[in-house]
Amino acid sequence: MKVDGKHTRTIWVEADGWSVGIIDQTALPHRFTTVRLATLADVARAIATMQVRGAPLIGATAAYGVALALRADASDEALERACATLLATRPTAVNLKWALDETVAAVRNRPREERVAAAYRRAAEISDEDVAINQAIGRHGAKLIAAMAANKQPGAPMQVLTHCNAGWLATVDFGTALAPVYVAHDQGVALHVWVDETRPRNQGAALTAWELGQHGVPHTVIADNTGGHLMQHGMVDMVVVGADRVAANGDVCNKIGTYLKALAAKDNNVPFYVGLPSPTIDFSVSDGLTEVPIEQRGADEVATMTGRTADGRVETVRIVPEGSAVANYAFDVTPARLVTGLITERGIVAPRRAALAAAFVERVQGPSRSIAR
Ligand code: MRU
Repeated sequence: MKVDGKHTRTIWVEADGWSVGIIDQTALPHRFTTVRLATLADVARAIATMQVRGAPLIGATAAYGVALALRADASDEALERACATLLATRPTAVNLKWALDETVAAVRNRPREERVAAAYRRAAEISDEDVAINQAIGRHGAKLIAAMAANKQPGAPMQVLTHCNAGWLATVDFGTALAPVYVAHDQGVALHVWVDETRPRNQGAALTAWELGQHGVPHTVIADNTGGHLMQHGMVDMVVVGADRVAANGDVCNKIGTYLKALAAKDNNVPFYVGLPSPTIDFSVSDGLTEVPIEQRGADEVATMTGRTADGRVETVRIVPEGSAVANYAFDVTPARLVTGLITERGIVAPRRAALAAAFVERVQGPSRSIAR
């Protein structure tokens, strides 16, 4: 991604050759700041507090977390403890477990003295693979956008609505749902993005708006409840969102509120697409609605809002009466029947059990290895 015009990934190995750098996403959009992770505890904290977030980036960060843990202790027991600690940080995005499985597979049968290097190697590969996958998602999705744009009045921009942040910041680079938007924009397709603010953490208002702005993509931030109205009035040509876990039957688990957008899209004949890398598919989950664990986070995220005051201070204020009960479900599941198509690194796949299994047959059969086409 470009930050002030300079290409920057969301995670990297620092100049010392072993510690890991990340962008602190909790400080955006008010401050661009980076954090150095040096221990397993640093990584677990960064994921749990959402300094890093977004399913693919959580996975890559966890892989580096294993490498850092093994630097301190390369025993089998330490490996197991590290995985358990990291797995407990966020329960919904399956990329976390996928990346841990991949990293464990890369180190498990090696002598202790080789384990650290093997873990760093696999973490770097996971990061690079994420970039390649997202570029492929971008290429496939951009063709879709260009085809839809061709049916519009000359000069009228494609109107795309997105929810949460499934852009560069949610991945190592390029994004999932937003990769097609960036590619289409770079190819000269006129487009405009409606950005759901995405309470309670405001990933849309804070992160999606910031990164679209960094790339020069025209966009407008809207309150979460606006999408239905826009769709009723013909102001949305397509919805594209990311995913934290896609079940074998094509059900899509994504940020809370996604389901309501899918319902509105269905009612208004607006195509509803999901951009996802194959590590987000969980073939062990047969039915998304009943089997995906939905993370519930702290009440403070709903009961408070954080923002910058006129004199430049970042402050958190309470917006809910003291004593009111608060619930904070972080994700919901959109049934496959509401999804028009899954934009994957292997092209647009129908959100159906057979189509998903055919597109990623090696994932159904055994350990994953994603190969972009
Ligand atoms: O809670 P988050 O911010 O980690 O949630 C993840 C997301 O950003 C979204 O749900 C996203 O659409 C999927 S991740 C590419």
